[in-house]
Amino acid sequence: MAALSSGDDTNDAIAFRPCILWFTGLSAAGKTSCADEVSSRLERLGCSVFQLDGDVVRQQQSRDLGFSDDDRRENILRVGSMARERLQKREEVVLVALISPFRSARDLVRRSVAPGQFVEIFVDAPLAVCEQRDPKGLYRRARAGEIKHFTGIDSRFEPPQQPELVLNSAVHAVGTLADQVMGYLKSNGYIRHTE
Ligand code: ADX
Repeated sequence: MAALSSGDDTNDAIAFRPCILWFTGLSAAGKTSCADEVSSRLERLGCSVFQLDGDVVRQQQSRDLGFSDDDRRENILRVGSMARERLQKREEVVLVALISPFRSARDLVRRSVAPGQFVEIFVDAPLAVCEQRDPKGLYRRARAGEIKHFTGIDSRFEPPQQPELVLNSAVHAVGTLADQVMGYLKSNGYIRHTE
């Protein structure tokens, strides 16, 4: 049986309180890497997880949407409703990695689930750092005017005011960020020993 932490030698069963882990932040802030790492760790503990990633959703369920404010709002609400459906199908933890730049749309998703089920995680890296990373060359193209409505350049990002967790992804490696998320889940009863 999985142990709750590497130094934990008990054989207790582990229970999970269902929730959506909603990673929000700029493009290239590290949302997907962090969600992937947390997802693997949860699976190793026996948790059933489901992941929704902005880049993937936009190739599939949100193919019809662009990056205008209205389309992004629609995208955020769509992903929110997919995440909610998954929770209802008894998936234990749903991990969402989405820029989701608008506070009001994120808050609508928060209010659409039970208290405590929406865990907002701000993956916080300054624009200059994300732009320096620029893994897909999109910032460069946005600066050159080849891509319009790019988040941080000519489209706004509204940081969460009271997120459950802030991850400083400009400073820490993904393993450290995942430690912080797992620590939060344990200390807030999302992951617990049942006996
Ligand atoms: S959101 O704003 O609607 O939440 P989402 O997370 O789904 O965005 O998609 C972001 C991904 O789309 C980025 O990782 C990037 O690869 C790509 N992308 C293409 N155009 C843009 C744009 N104008 N702004 C931000 N991301 C863009």
